[in-house]
Amino acid sequence: MRRDVAGEPAGGGGPHVDLGPRGVYHRGNRLNDLTGKEWLFSTRSVISMPFPPSCQFELRSQHGGQKPPELCAYLIRIFTKSGQRVLDPFMGVGGTLLGASLSGREAVGIEISPRWVDIYHEVCRREGLAPQTAIVGDSRQVLPTLEGPFDFLLTDVPYWDMDRRRRSAGKFKRAGEAARPRRPSKLQAFGDGPRNREEWLRLLEDVFAAARPLLRPRAYLAVFIGDMYHSGRFHPLSHEVAAVLDRLGYVMKGNLIWYDVSKSLHIYGYRYEFIPSMIHQNILIFRHEPGGSARRSGA
Ligand SMILES: C[S@@+](CC[C@H](N)C(=O)[O-])C[C@H]1O[C@@H](n2cnc3c(N)ncnc32)[C@H](O)[C@@H]1O
Repeated sequence: MRRDVAGEPAGGGGPHVDLGPRGVYHRGNRLNDLTGKEWLFSTRSVISMPFPPSCQFELRSQHGGQKPPELCAYLIRIFTKSGQRVLDPFMGVGGTLLGASLSGREAVGIEISPRWVDIYHEVCRREGLAPQTAIVGDSRQVLPTLEGPFDFLLTDVPYWDMDRRRRSAGKFKRAGEAARPRRPSKLQAFGDGPRNREEWLRLLEDVFAAARPLLRPRAYLAVFIGDMYHSGRFHPLSHEVAAVLDRLGYVMKGNLIWYDVSKSLHIYGYRYEFIPSMIHQNILIFRHEPGGSARRSGA
């Protein structure tokens, strides 16, 4: 018998519910609404399926860091059950919030720049979606005013503005050639972001600390963070973000790689230096486990 799982499957019977092509759902599944087959697929450490431009992609692309709503919906379906609540303290133009709508979850997003929240609302209007709760403000001030619990935190952290200090080379010079003109770095700041690495790490620490009391015990966090090649060296930013979360007492459970098939390759450093083409992002998976204790920096 085929039934759709929207929250708890209806009807009596044993622990197993046959969902036809989707596979078999077990009523004891405490994490999500996936069948065994879907669960197996969801544990793959590399996410390589394409996410076609959707949900007013052009409009959302005004924000250089927008994420595919379907990718967010995919993650939300892994880490929550239908109807549960998702928090995004750095919502941008609302990849997480749109993903929550696509997957039948509730979400609250916070964004410091009103421009991005306006775009999110315009996307919802054009798509005929009821907007989720989108709050304009600084998460450090807004989070303590929110009511929990949330069942999942899905976010994509801002970067700091390296360009205020330095601009990267526009093209990498060939051997023996004078330096080429500089142009803005690909490391984008999205509005009133942190000015340097230290401020950036402090912002992340403050925001993830403020989110903690809002998360239900054993809730997961999934955090997008791309590593960077900038100013002649590789910056494993994901390690720094993971260290912040670890210090706050969250427990690391995985590092998913999102292989972004839409990224095109550019020739960097050809014939004189190896420079990676970053066509993936990390999605750090952490869990808020009871008993995890914070070791805040400076504490
Ligand atoms: C990488 S973007 C998120 C993009 C988002 N995933 C999307 O799909 O549009 C990070 C966002 O965090 C915002 N931000 C930076 N500092 C913030 C703060 N203190 N409170 C709230 N939002 C902040 C930035 O303005 C930026 O839009």
